[in-house]
Amino acid sequence: MTTLRLSAGDIDQAAGIVSSGGLLGIPTETVYGLGANGLNERAVRAIFEAKGRPQDNPLILHVPDESWLERYCEDIPAAAYELSGRFWPGPLTMILKRKDNVPDAVTAGLDTVGMRCPDCAVTRAVIEKAGVPVAAPSGNASGRPSPTTAAAMLEDMDGKIDAMLDDGPCKVGVESTIIDLTVTPPRLLRPGGVTLEELEEVLGEVAVDDAVRRLMAPEEQPKAPGMKYRHYAPKAPVTVVKGDPDMTAGYIAARMGEGSGILCFDEFKGYFRGHPVVTMGPVSDQAEQAREIFEALRAFDHMEVTDIWAQSPSEGGIGLAVSNRLNKAAGFHIIEL
Ligand code: TXA
Ligand code: MG
Repeated sequence: MTTLRLSAGDIDQAAGIVSSGGLLGIPTETVYGLGANGLNERAVRAIFEAKGRPQDNPLILHVPDESWLERYCEDIPAAAYELSGRFWPGPLTMILKRKDNVPDAVTAGLDTVGMRCPDCAVTRAVIEKAGVPVAAPSGNASGRPSPTTAAAMLEDMDGKIDAMLDDGPCKVGVESTIIDLTVTPPRLLRPGGVTLEELEEVLGEVAVDDAVRRLMAPEEQPKAPGMKYRHYAPKAPVTVVKGDPDMTAGYIAARMGEGSGILCFDEFKGYFRGHPVVTMGPVSDQAEQAREIFEALRAFDHMEVTDIWAQSPSEGGIGLAVSNRLNKAAGFHIIEL
């Protein structure tokens, strides 16, 4: 198929594609998504096919505001509305008990569903107009870094989707935070733009799922099925070096091999002369690191590198999400100094 290019002025056309069961690339504040009518089983199956996504990995539903929660969820706790009041529209996905009208294809048979209201007026308008929730995973081919521009998404999806709605680069850059509200205490399944510290302010105690900080053994089942897959990975193997940035830069410079590519903070690019270097923003600017991380990982696929060394962002605030994505790209191959 030929993928149609759409922009913010084409909301009616984009909504028409969703209502008629097509596949639409959608902008959000986090990453671009591969959207379809979340109530149409066949359209939802087409998402899995276009991505090459394993069938046991559920999708989240995108809605225009919290009044849509009760259409698709039951036993909604007060905490859900406290969170939506504070963080929606925004980069927070809530896992809630689902109603029977949500197709099994969306939830991979789970009795829960992820609900998200993106901070992107164009996409909320498309959903309103289509009148159905939009199921959307990140718009990358399965296993690849998530796309933060329409062009990055088209690298993976051109010819596989009906249309691509371009609304410029994503302002957060890493996928939404996922909080499971069906357990006590609520559990952070994936770190993202709404930080653990912010969730704790609203919820009090928050448990952090093991899959956030370490590699799951093959027999273990993380609560967010997607967290078990190797992910976000460029083609060359990645090693993350954790510690004080001066020390990690020196450590990498002393060990890099002839074909090594380097992912580093802006301040350190001079350490690695003669090597392909990709920067991810200044040491102190975590929001910039979040915006840069996926494009940086994708950039190595256009370079001749045999392996990649990476400095590691610190883990406070949105840094927990950035380091989680980088660690996953490295298959949790991490050296701690
Ligand atoms: O920012 C985002 O969340 C982006 C944009 C497009 O909205 N979407 C996104 O979707 O990242 P995806 O499918 O790439 O990641 C969703 C994650 C997966 O790890 C999946 O396993 C998990 O959410 N998930 C979905 N439904 C779940 C459920 N009912 N219980 C636990 N985890 C769930
Ligand atoms: Mg994804």
